Amino acid sequence: MCGIVGYVGNKKAQSFLISGLKRLEYRGYDSAGIVTLDESGAATLLRAKGKIANLEEKLAKNAKTDKIGIGHTRWATHGEPSEKNAHPHQAGNIYLVHNGIIENYKELKESLKDHRFKSETDTEVLAALINSFYKDGKYPLANAVVQALKLVQGTYGIAVVSRKNPDEIVVARSGSPLVVGVGHDETLIASDASALVGHTKRAIYLNDGEVALVTKNSIEIRTLNSEPVSAKVEEIETNLAAIQKGGYEHFLLKEIMEQPKSLAETLRGRINTKTSTVHLGGPGLSEAELRKIKHLVIVGCGTAYHAGLLAGYYIEQFTPEITVETVIASEYRYRSAYIPKDSVALIVSQSGETADTLACLREIKKQGIKTIGIVNAIGSTIAREVDGGTYVHVGPEISVASTKAFTSQVIAMTMFGITIAQAKGVKSGVLKPYIEEIAKLPKEVENVLSSTNEQIKTIAKKYAKYEHAIYLGRDTAYPASMEGALKLKEISYIDANAYAFGELKHGPLALVDDRFFEVAFLPKGTLFDKAISNVQEVLARGGHVIVVTNEKKFDMPVENVVKITTSIELFAPILMNLVSQLFAYYMTTARGLNVDQPRNLAKSVTVE
Ligand code: F6R
Repeated sequence: MCGIVGYVGNKKAQSFLISGLKRLEYRGYDSAGIVTLDESGAATLLRAKGKIANLEEKLAKNAKTDKIGIGHTRWATHGEPSEKNAHPHQAGNIYLVHNGIIENYKELKESLKDHRFKSETDTEVLAALINSFYKDGKYPLANAVVQALKLVQGTYGIAVVSRKNPDEIVVARSGSPLVVGVGHDETLIASDASALVGHTKRAIYLNDGEVALVTKNSIEIRTLNSEPVSAKVEEIETNLAAIQKGGYEHFLLKEIMEQPKSLAETLRGRINTKTSTVHLGGPGLSEAELRKIKHLVIVGCGTAYHAGLLAGYYIEQFTPEITVETVIASEYRYRSAYIPKDSVALIVSQSGETADTLACLREIKKQGIKTIGIVNAIGSTIAREVDGGTYVHVGPEISVASTKAFTSQVIAMTMFGITIAQAKGVKSGVLKPYIEEIAKLPKEVENVLSSTNEQIKTIAKKYAKYEHAIYLGRDTAYPASMEGALKLKEISYIDANAYAFGELKHGPLALVDDRFFEVAFLPKGTLFDKAISNVQEVLARGGHVIVVTNEKKFDMPVENVVKITTSIELFAPILMNLVSQLFAYYMTTARGLNVDQPRNLAKSVTVE
């Protein structure tokens, strides 16, 4: 979603602002803007609808050597994507960029009669509110920001500059991330540390309710109640290669193909095949605490939710005494669900910033339930607010569609389940096959990606004109089919839905006709024959079926079969999901669409 950058130092601010905004493009946006100030406080404000390239065209005619500025990519919430609604917004001498939503903006607007509003945004209301405290020298800039924020309901990450103080930036956050990069004679601001990579390795992650006044060589942080905060400077671990395409045409393909490596990172130091044990340091639960767990609540959105569903199937298989409930965060936060005291909640999020997931985390904590994060983004809000956690360590995921995070989330949660099972005394013979397969997975993932890639590309070309798809699976292949359908719909815009095979006769079978094709996951195992009967039912009604299976002997007359050669059985649905990922990718390129930034979507959903 929206992105913020800021710069104060000795270099050209415009250069950092533009390159920083480009780094944040992956988050999704529909307009962009920057403002810089020269030493006398004269401002150059540039804003454009659409891509950053449009902003760069304006920049070419307005290049400045100004050494301070702020910038923004906007994902429209209040008011259409347009130049006038793009940030920065101005009120008097101040300029403001803002991520989040000011919920009480209408009431606040009523009280700001002096300001002539030029946009439809909630952000301009906040700018005018800050200015009402700042103009006439009532308060210094940082104090004016604090006074205004005390009246605000909603979420924000903001950066503010003033023409009267062209050497300082004020930033603040509540519910929307902000990172302050510590440089030599320069300070950089970003809503996502990836914009800082290559500029500095040192960063301060602001907490909710904190306001920072930064100059090129000072950072002063206070709470909204004016208490000083001693900032912890952390290291940014990401390197440049991790946020570049590395020779691939799209980030999505790069991220799909790097799964052998990213999965190996998830497993590093956590799995011992000699003793058939799993060791996770992060959750911070004692053996006694693990033994007491009777319920797991797994919370996530979209792909993270699907990862939770799939992990839940596994955990139930080897830990019989436990019930697992996997829930959609946007629903769960408003349910009146009672969580038994002997529960632990797994909070699953790649970005660690998803608003609904974060809200659930806070609600669950209020009930006194231990929360464990299954998070990728280091230092993100969820990672910092959970009681313990297991980072998935897949590195930055830039493409909007989540791929490598899914695979590692499933395995990280399954490993957490295994640690519970170990503590509960589940026999090592039960856990061994899971641990052995997990250890083999990175290699198996590599084999499947390389052996199926060309075939999937060819199949995708055949189906690229369809507008409807049905994904089918049962047991562990069912959550995998849900994830397959999500991947296809979000990037190729094909209407794709997943059904459990057993549900077909209860309604969806009526859909089967020439407008649809069906993707059926058929892992070997006890339910294989039942799934075969379901495929027969689809074929009998003229279905256009693509089967993905690890059963060598599969020989039904379907239109296409992707046979996966693997020694893995339990985790075969994860391998089948790789086929879905590649299929969605090639369908999207065949349809000539924007793979990495699908329409209407943002990478990190920081608003409700
Ligand atoms: C789909 C996708 C989304 C995210 C969801 C949760 O490909 O990327 O469905 O999985 O928005 O995001 P995180 O994991 O960042 O909480």
